[in-house]
Amino acid sequence: MSQAVESRGVTVRVPGKINLELVVGPLREDGFHELATVFHTVGIYDHVTATPAATWSVQVSGQTAEGVPTGADNLALKAAKSLARRYGVEEAAALSIDKNIPVAGGMAGGSADAAAALVACEALWELQVSRDELEPLAARLGSDVPFLLHGGTAIGSGRGERLAPVLARGELHWVLWVSTGSGLSTPEVYAECDRLREAAGEPVPDPAPSGELIAALRTMDTSAVGAALRNDLQEAACSLYPVLEDVLEAGTSLGAQGAIVSGSGPTVAFLVGTQAQAIDLSVGLAARGPAGDIRRATGPVAGAQVVQSVAPAGPPTFTG
Ligand code: C5P
Repeated sequence: MSQAVESRGVTVRVPGKINLELVVGPLREDGFHELATVFHTVGIYDHVTATPAATWSVQVSGQTAEGVPTGADNLALKAAKSLARRYGVEEAAALSIDKNIPVAGGMAGGSADAAAALVACEALWELQVSRDELEPLAARLGSDVPFLLHGGTAIGSGRGERLAPVLARGELHWVLWVSTGSGLSTPEVYAECDRLREAAGEPVPDPAPSGELIAALRTMDTSAVGAALRNDLQEAACSLYPVLEDVLEAGTSLGAQGAIVSGSGPTVAFLVGTQAQAIDLSVGLAARGPAGDIRRATGPVAGAQVVQSVAPAGPPTFTG
């Protein structure tokens, strides 16, 4: 991340998410599916810096920068502009994104940057708007954006934008398999899920979260959490990206206590009991699993947080 001291600027750190449970209900008339999901942030971060500028712009650097749009369709830029419109701000901002969350990976990287841009610009323009007040704006940008304003572990309903926190104590240790090839398009994975369901001819009930997962999270019983992981998009993601079956199999045979495709994929998340087991599994996967980037992360972590704020006069202040 650039540490250059601008005349005024705010840097926000934001994590990616996985879904511990993703129950997909019927397709709604607005093109979205009714969901019951359990969101969970993990410690893989993007940083978004907002500085005042004469015109709007966004630049992207970092490990996973490739393929991120830098034009008007960049979601962080849309977020900053929508905040300015909503609160009558006449300044523009230059956004700089340092990307580390996989792109098109099912970890809500674009939504994370949008949430970070809202928080960064809110601080830059000193709007005194709370996270809760930002939620409607966030929801219009994407179904996962409200969750990334808050982070932690939370139940999402509606299309994912209605949130209720989950009481979870302690940490979960994850090993992530990240595709080094192309990502998956979220609408295409939902469409494949619909197609597979139609072919199977089964009715699609209204979605509900399972009691098992919530109970397991309350006690942080890793093997019970692992057994309760569920993703209704997994079959569709595997159908579009068959190597995911081999990835899931490799991690499970190497001793993971849970294995799940993250959101619409293709990132795969493996749950283990300890940091030492995470190291063992990541070494085993790198040696014997299908080719991919192997990362380790713990969750839950906080959502979008200001980590650096540079005022016009005086030195930068660091928080977090
Ligand atoms: O809200 P977001 O922009 O992340 O959604 C991307 C796409 O994923 C939607 O256009 C839709 O095709 C699909 N989606 C869905 N049901 C949801 C969330 C997303 O069908 N609850």
